[in-house]
Amino acid sequence: MRIVLGVSGGIAAYKAVEVCRRLVDSGHHVVPVMTDAARHFVGAATLSALASEPVPDGLWQGGIPHTRLGQEADLVLVAPATADLLARYAAGMADDLLTATLLATRAPVIVCPAMHTEMWEHPSVIDNLATLRRRGVQVVDPGSGRLAGGDVGPGRMAEPNEIITAVAARLAGEAAPAGGTAPRASAEPAGGAELPRERDLSGRTVVVSAGGTREAIDPVRVITNRSSGKQGHAVAEAARDRGARVVLVTASMLPAPAGVEVVTVESAAEMERAMGEAAAGAQVVVMAAAVADFRPKAPAEAKIHETPDLVLEPTPDILAALVSRRAPGQVLVGFAAETEDAVARAWRKLERKGVDLLVVNDVSAPGSGFDHDTNEVSILESGGGTTVVPLRSKRAVADAILDRVVARLRGESA
Ligand code: CTP
Repeated sequence: MRIVLGVSGGIAAYKAVEVCRRLVDSGHHVVPVMTDAARHFVGAATLSALASEPVPDGLWQGGIPHTRLGQEADLVLVAPATADLLARYAAGMADDLLTATLLATRAPVIVCPAMHTEMWEHPSVIDNLATLRRRGVQVVDPGSGRLAGGDVGPGRMAEPNEIITAVAARLAGEAAPAGGTAPRASAEPAGGAELPRERDLSGRTVVVSAGGTREAIDPVRVITNRSSGKQGHAVAEAARDRGARVVLVTASMLPAPAGVEVVTVESAAEMERAMGEAAAGAQVVVMAAAVADFRPKAPAEAKIHETPDLVLEPTPDILAALVSRRAPGQVLVGFAAETEDAVARAWRKLERKGVDLLVVNDVSAPGSGFDHDTNEVSILESGGGTTVVPLRSKRAVADAILDRVVARLRGESA
């Protein structure tokens, strides 16, 4: 893939060198573009030596049309993205080769902000990032740590590992339209005038549940399951990047994704309440959580010291409740984790649950299901279509699911 690596002028530019090397090692063609300020922090000779091409001189020298790099890119990554660069990008300025490239590209853009805490928390930076996110730009948020000058706080650019993972996931998502067995094979939006995939959920509210619920036995112990919440969180992030307002109701221990409204819950009862409230005004509801199917009937109020005779009762079926209260036009997505005879069982489950889409995975397949970063699923649709998504990153699987959701919102059924 052809990746433009934009480097703007912050101390974290030294980490861009490592990012560049790792991208080239992974087989990508990396075109480095530096702002003038970046040249104070890292030598153009260093990046030129490591990247697939030398650093171009700038907008005015070297004979490169200012739009060419952006047009040809499969992805544009800006690491580090300073407050100044983000402001110029959000304002639509094109006063150097990097901003001109950002404006000219239709490829996915990932920015990795890096700046002092005071700047990171300034309302103008917050607004600029919100604008960029709304336009489909993916932001790899900075972490907390030691900053230039010895200060400590949020603003430190994400580590190269995290950045490389985000790039790989994004490229996998873009390069992997789900191969379908259904009559309509393409998962891409139909029609040339459609919104680009990055924005095709703008104006929509998407509610996603994630993680395995925990049902109290006593104040110390719980009944739970092996769900990590990774697939649900990936759906929330993908919907956010496609322009949706996203509410994530999560029982997972994963960090809350940025730019998403997060409701943290523990039990099925809490999840049922939160989902009921959030789903009321939503156009899309994705029930990716692994709800514990049963819970202790009478959890003890104090720690139990003897082996208890647990009496269990079923938890409420949250999805069934959501289906029964579904608003007109709302698209409902269920999940099914199976260990044998997955697809046949899932068709029956789709009927029984009354959902529009059922995402089924065989959690016993290698690389698939609980706690993996990858997944392999079939998306079954009421009406009969199936989209088979081979082993992919959970983010790419999330995009394949949302491709079908968008098609259903548009009234296209399988
Ligand atoms: N689900 C739910 N509430 C429950 C159990 C499951 O909302 N109490 C949802 C899950 O989030 C998932 C779908 O229902 O989207 C299917 O979950 P699964 O556990 O596979 O289905 P069950 O109805 O429990 O069917 P079974 O255990 O018989 O396979």
